Amino acid sequence: MDPADRGQPEGAQPSRRWISLLLGSGVLASIASFLYPAIRYIIPPPLAESSSRSVVAAKVGDLKNNSGVVFKFGSEPGILVRLADGQYRAFTAVCTHLSCTVQYRADLREIWCPCHNGLYDLAGRNVSGPPPRPLQAYEVHIQGEDIVVSRSA
Ligand code: FES
Repeated sequence: MDPADRGQPEGAQPSRRWISLLLGSGVLASIASFLYPAIRYIIPPPLAESSSRSVVAAKVGDLKNNSGVVFKFGSEPGILVRLADGQYRAFTAVCTHLSCTVQYRADLREIWCPCHNGLYDLAGRNVSGPPPRPLQAYEVHIQGEDIVVSRSA
């Protein structure tokens, strides 16, 4: 329909096109903002380290006796503990109760889950609180200056 037929000046047409363009691009942006997270959820990014069987958890000398550190092992946390006698132990740091990250308690000399006060001994056995199973143990090897933690075969 011709603008003159509607009683509008001809200069009004470009501004209507701009408004239509802005509304159209807003709708497209809204659709994209809904679709992008859904697509990212359906197609997760590749986990580069998830298949890794070993990782350098720390350097020799990083941990003093009777201490522990949480490290990244693939997509999950692990915990490396240096016992009072200098030996190393490593476990998954994922609590077997509800998957909180455990930590080493030097005062208790045990591995503790802060979420529900679960306790594991230094062999990874669940000894107190709600955890139903022991922590999965890892192998620890010293390679030069590296403390390498490996999943058991
Ligand atoms: S999640 Fe560890 S005790 Fe509940």
